[in-house]
Amino acid sequence: MSPKDRTTHLLFALKDARGGFVSGETLSKAQGISRTAIWKQVAALRRLGYEIEATPRRGYRLAGAPDLLLPQEIAYGLNTRILGKEIRHLDSVTSTNGVVKSLAEAGAEEGTIVVAEVQTGGKGRLGRGWFSPRGGVWLSVLLRPAIEPIDGPKLTMVAGLGCLAALAQTGVPAAMEWPNDLMIRGRKVGGILLEVTTEPGLIEYAVVGIGINLNVDEAVFPADLRGKATSVKAELGRPVDRPAFARNLLEELERWYLALKEDRTDEMVSAWRDALGTIGKRVEVATLHERFTGDAIDIDARGSLVIRLSPRETRTLQAGDVTIIR
Ligand code: BTN
Repeated sequence: MSPKDRTTHLLFALKDARGGFVSGETLSKAQGISRTAIWKQVAALRRLGYEIEATPRRGYRLAGAPDLLLPQEIAYGLNTRILGKEIRHLDSVTSTNGVVKSLAEAGAEEGTIVVAEVQTGGKGRLGRGWFSPRGGVWLSVLLRPAIEPIDGPKLTMVAGLGCLAALAQTGVPAAMEWPNDLMIRGRKVGGILLEVTTEPGLIEYAVVGIGINLNVDEAVFPADLRGKATSVKAELGRPVDRPAFARNLLEELERWYLALKEDRTDEMVSAWRDALGTIGKRVEVATLHERFTGDAIDIDARGSLVIRLSPRETRTLQAGDVTIIR
């Protein structure tokens, strides 16, 4: 075991005790190392911000964990096969999508995760910025799906369905607005930025960037977001355990990623159709080239939005901004 793995092993043993004491002897036996070595690991965990009580004869007790998206916090009890085998945590970064891209270019494994406390140049869709202060979950996932570029939007479905499932577990009524806005009561709580690198006929890798305003204080939203953005904390009136949320999110993302990999696309499309608050609504569409209004009536097998302009004319939209008018 590497020193980092040993420290994680110790942390998990303390967590398993659920606030109870674990003796130094038990801990040293479990890893086959001296009590002094255990003491050093305790010191390392304290440096990360963990509160660990040490009492003669009783041993060690975990009394508090830092409110950070530390890899070992997300990994504790994580039940996935692909996502999160490698998790990198950064306090501040320009954009987690950018870091995952560099890792992908260097050959990183599918399922690698980068998570940050703050992004200084967070990226949104259509070249916009993404406000990423402390308290949120800013996370990017590296995927290497063996699918054609034309099927890339299916990864947005995977991400959207995963996010909705994780949000549902916090108790807030979240819905999806096409293509990838996560909404609570008409305000945006999160978004997805899919960046795909292709080779002829195949996606080489995809970076799925997810931003959720989990515990972001409403008061810190800049003027242009006030009234349009919300956070889970604002909706619930209390903060949510961020590492636990990130863990659920990875599990739910993997659930839907496996549906894609195992060709259970019908199941995915039908869940996506049910999840989309956009369908059945009158919408205004803005693409790079034009604006029009119509009725959003369905999505197709690739996740494109079908809009009825008149009784005889429908349009299929792969990308663009869609605003619900009523
Ligand atoms: C949008 O709705 O416009 C998409 C927002 C996506 C934001 C996330 S935060 C983590 C990842 N890194 C980024 O720079 N952007 C995505």
